[in-house]
Amino acid sequence: MSIRPQKPAPGTPAPGKLPLTELAELKARRQPIVMVTAYDAPGGRLAHEAGVDLVLVGDSAAMTVLGHDSTVPATMEEMLVLTRAVTRGASRSLVIADMPFGSFQVSDEDAVRNAIRFVKEAGADAVKLEGAGVMLSRVRAIVAAGIPVMGHIGLTPQSATMLGGFKAQGRTAEQAAALLQDARALEAAGCFSLVLEAVPAPVAARVTRELAVPTIGIGAGAACDGQVLVWHDLLGLYDGRTARFVKRYADVGATIRTALAQYAADVREHRFPEEQHTYAMPAEELALFEAAASEHREHAHDRS
Ligand code: KIV
Repeated sequence: MSIRPQKPAPGTPAPGKLPLTELAELKARRQPIVMVTAYDAPGGRLAHEAGVDLVLVGDSAAMTVLGHDSTVPATMEEMLVLTRAVTRGASRSLVIADMPFGSFQVSDEDAVRNAIRFVKEAGADAVKLEGAGVMLSRVRAIVAAGIPVMGHIGLTPQSATMLGGFKAQGRTAEQAAALLQDARALEAAGCFSLVLEAVPAPVAARVTRELAVPTIGIGAGAACDGQVLVWHDLLGLYDGRTARFVKRYADVGATIRTALAQYAADVREHRFPEEQHTYAMPAEELALFEAAASEHREHAHDRS
């Protein structure tokens, strides 16, 4: 294990951590913002080392890590454990915790309480929540409590059933106008950034131009201020069907399968472990141990 988190003093931004306020400046400079999901300490550390700007502990963990077939079953307790792991590994990155289904829908109080848990118990810098409409009040309440909120509109997986499945959103003029209205309202409610998921590129481009805060696209085209991909999709670790917007940058799954098959063959063929993988002990200690073990065996034999 070689995870050595460098924990900053409480309240001190870790060196290298992008100040949240810098995001709007990146947008103004048209410098694309890079976000990726991560679900554990090595993932967080690798994302930071690769120079990723924002690490999202997505509730996609329900599917990628926990094996569910949707994001809905993710619980607060599971998301807290995963977020805590990521912030240990990515102590020098801005970490955003995704609020799971059921953790913010019921009331503003509930939403604020759960957002606070992500910050206090898991070390998150900000939270993300899906939707607009009644969720605007949740955004206002969480921001008023001093916690930065990232919005998420377009395809919102937690309400995929209501949306008729995992489908692109905003494909009619009416839907696109509603999306733009939601985006403006979320910005006015205090979101520091918005995820636009599975939205036609020209609609996302217009939303991006209309807002002062950065948009982070996933299946929303190149005009967004930043992009996000899910760790398992990007690295080829997810076996399920992936969306058309996924670009796979590596086939880590194949590498892991080959390594595991090699390991299994080595164990079965007595090629592993080798001398260098074992511990020695002083010869006299070994002789004493062998003698004691034999004596014990003889006594046991006499008793039977
Ligand atoms: O849960 C998640 O990973 C997400 C991203 C796809 C934005 O919400």
